[in-house]
Amino acid sequence: MIPPGKTIGILGGGQLGRMTGQAARALGYHFVVFEPQENCPAGQVADFEINASYEDEAALKRFADSVDIISYEFENVPASALRFLEDHKPIHPKPECLYICQNREREKNFLKENGFPCAPFAIIESANQLASALEHIGRASVLKTADFGYDGKGQVRIREDQAQPEYIWSSFDGERAVLEKWMDFEMEISVIVAANSNGETSCFPVAENIHTNHILDYSIAPARIEPHIAEAAQDLAKEIASKLGIVGLLGVELFLLRDGTLAVNELAPRPHNSGHYTIDACITSQFEQFVRAICGLPLGLVDLVKPVTMVNILGDAWSEGEPEFSKLLQTPDAKLHLYGKSQARPGRKMGHFCIFGPDANEAFQRAQELKAKL
Ligand SMILES: Nc1ncnc2c1ncn2[C@@H]1O[C@H](COP(=O)(O)OP(=O)(O)O)[C@@H](O)[C@H]1O
Ligand SMILES: [Mg+2]
Repeated sequence: MIPPGKTIGILGGGQLGRMTGQAARALGYHFVVFEPQENCPAGQVADFEINASYEDEAALKRFADSVDIISYEFENVPASALRFLEDHKPIHPKPECLYICQNREREKNFLKENGFPCAPFAIIESANQLASALEHIGRASVLKTADFGYDGKGQVRIREDQAQPEYIWSSFDGERAVLEKWMDFEMEISVIVAANSNGETSCFPVAENIHTNHILDYSIAPARIEPHIAEAAQDLAKEIASKLGIVGLLGVELFLLRDGTLAVNELAPRPHNSGHYTIDACITSQFEQFVRAICGLPLGLVDLVKPVTMVNILGDAWSEGEPEFSKLLQTPDAKLHLYGKSQARPGRKMGHFCIFGPDANEAFQRAQELKAKL
């Protein structure tokens, strides 16, 4: 066990690191961030940040020497950095978990080999392979880069009537990709599961997720699904976390298909955007649970106190100057979170807010109304 008073080190300086740092500090931990770019969102709430490249072994050593335990909030930390750090300090979740989840090809193969349901897929390295995969998977599909994709980046949707694999492949930015069947889902949902080193596990309430332009827009909790489906989603998430050997958090994105079955979309071995609602609406937030799990503390209670909707605030909201946060702040039960990013770019996650309701429908309704006012 790494008790309060010790120092947690996080690789990656984005908002997930920032909110982890806030939770770590509330519990009395020290917090250090390693991030190539200075003045990062997580660095602003850390004891200090080390700004260096993930290849800089002297800086990695300095980081390892100043912390007691290491985790990551950024999915594209190079494997070499983790291998180096592993020799100096414990890392949770273990580097193998990140190695699998940071690459779609490895992630999909892991799911398939272990019998977890996911969309039919094929690995693509050439226009010829794409042509034949489109034949057997079906033309309605999505081509995703194997490495470094996030928020819909590196993805091309292929429609039923598109028939030019040569053209699609030559204009695709990437050497290796995964072609996935386009899933005609009823709903997107996600489960965040926590596991500590004592074998204790716990799932947060299932969130219902609405994406716009491939980026998460709303997360509604509880998801408006039947209890037995929620339970099946949580069981599936627990099984995947156990197969991966996660100590920490695993975010599992799922498609709920029209026949009531589930298919896994993506895995993230870290806090997840669809779990931000837990800060304001659950007894324990995903960030506190993350800290508890990696430090070997007992896990906290995850009960949802009140139905909630979380809305992402993207850089687009700055297109005509500063958004009107006063409207949001005038709503006494709206909870605003901004990540301290100085530059607003379209599609960039700048913050989020949460709003409540007597039930999920009303929380969602109120969230849409408030978002329109921003
Ligand atoms: N096979 C698919 N079928 C239907 N929708 C998909 C599929 N793959 C991705 N999407 C849509 O695009 C969104 C983003 O894709 P995802 O694979 O989760 O990438 P990212 O890493 O960008 O989150 C998903 O949440 C979903 O809305
Ligand atoms: Mg996703």
